[in-house]
Amino acid sequence: MGESLGIGLLGLGVVGGGVLDALRANAQAYESRCGRRLELRAAAVRNVSARSALAEDGLVLSADPADVATREDVDIVVELIGGESPASECIEAALSAGKSVVTANKEVMAKRGPAMLALAERRGVELRYEASVGGGIPIIGVLQRDLQANDVSSVRAIINGTTNYMITAMSRDGLSYDDALRDAQRLGYAEADPASDVDGIDAAYKLAVLASLAFHATVGPEDVYREGIRSLAARDFGHARNLGYAIRMLATARRTSGGLDLRVHPTLVPLADPMASVEGVLNAVSVSGDLIGTAVLEGAGAGAGPTSSAVVADILDVAGRMASGQQPRKQRPMDPSPQLASLAEICVPTYLRFEVPDRAGVLAELGAVFASEGVSIASVLQTPHPSRQQSADLIVTTHACQDGAIDRVLQRLEGSGSVIEQGVRLRIEDGCDD
Ligand SMILES: NC(=O)c1ccc[n+]([C@@H]2O[C@H](COP(=O)([O-])OP(=O)(O)OC[C@H]3O[C@@H](n4cnc5c(N)ncnc54)[C@H](OP(=O)(O)O)[C@@H]3O)[C@@H](O)[C@H]2O)c1
Repeated sequence: MGESLGIGLLGLGVVGGGVLDALRANAQAYESRCGRRLELRAAAVRNVSARSALAEDGLVLSADPADVATREDVDIVVELIGGESPASECIEAALSAGKSVVTANKEVMAKRGPAMLALAERRGVELRYEASVGGGIPIIGVLQRDLQANDVSSVRAIINGTTNYMITAMSRDGLSYDDALRDAQRLGYAEADPASDVDGIDAAYKLAVLASLAFHATVGPEDVYREGIRSLAARDFGHARNLGYAIRMLATARRTSGGLDLRVHPTLVPLADPMASVEGVLNAVSVSGDLIGTAVLEGAGAGAGPTSSAVVADILDVAGRMASGQQPRKQRPMDPSPQLASLAEICVPTYLRFEVPDRAGVLAELGAVFASEGVSIASVLQTPHPSRQQSADLIVTTHACQDGAIDRVLQRLEGSGSVIEQGVRLRIEDGCDD
């Protein structure tokens, strides 16, 4: 075996702690797998005094992650701080100093990934980010290497465990949105401020990372259309089931004739679709390509064990390449400004729930507005409103039509007297004709 390689860990939280434990517990096995001993030389945390016991084992502890990222004796920097800053500055400093970097940071990779990867290539080092999407699911490597013979047409994913947990609880146990959120917070699946999860921000970061890889195009989170799950009611799940669908917070990236279609929103998926049976905090990613057809990966999207599995795999691969003197992997050329599809022109069937006055003629009034915008209704269901006696819930599904036509229908119905409240609008997964 050659000289040992120095590892610098930025962050010793859920994932950093898991990586530290794995590197220590499996040191010998990892040494024989990558041909070099991996030595944990330094780590950065905010609260150094709380970790003083680790310093007794010879690990240098610092409150300055940039210092650890650029230390002479560190060869591979493992960024597990999270968030945009100071993580992105530390990654940049490490790459500029000629060190390879492994990160689990979806926000940095979504916002600055292409620039960081270009910097790594210029400096002749590696930047790996398997853990940034799907936790333990090995989807980044699959897109980079294993499916490279394919022309990928779409990626569909459940990549936020918090919302999938909440949606499962609402669907299976009939919980309201608020109760499902409280439950997720009690179990540690949701933050005190859940916005990043329930508004789809986290999933949009991850979809941007996946779409960039799948389509070899520079895609940022601002290119992803996003809606959260706050307007879902428990009764929507029952209505959807009666229509043959489950509701999932789906992240979708498709190549269409009008450009890349990138969306994160709650979606009705057919009950027979593999995505419909992904429950709780699990994640799943389905990739369709010209040679593979469709491949689906499912597994734990978070947690110390699954996420450190992905982080340590990246460390071992980088270390193995360094040990055998291999050059860093070359990036495939990227389209710097891909054409994006217009949401208004996307063609999908839609599920709509309205609160309507419980009087004669309402259905005909609504039907006339749909017809005048050329939207063909597939089904209508009227049920008593759960809390107001003079109102009814009207559930309308449409055949596939342009999203913009539904916008116009909703604009015309607003304040029309035929509708008291527009409850929810959900796109349906099947029937896309683009
Ligand atoms: N948790 C998961 O299951 C999971 C899954 C997939 C990906 N990820 C990603 O993995 C990364 C880490 O997540 P995590 O859940 O492990 O986070 P975490 O538990 O909050 O840990 C963050 C760590 O970074 C340290 N830190 C934060 N800011 C710092 C600063 N300015 N200077 C020095 N140290 C700082 C913290 O120090 P203290 O300990 O002193 O506070 C802590 O040790 C994130 O990018 C996240 O998105 C996490």
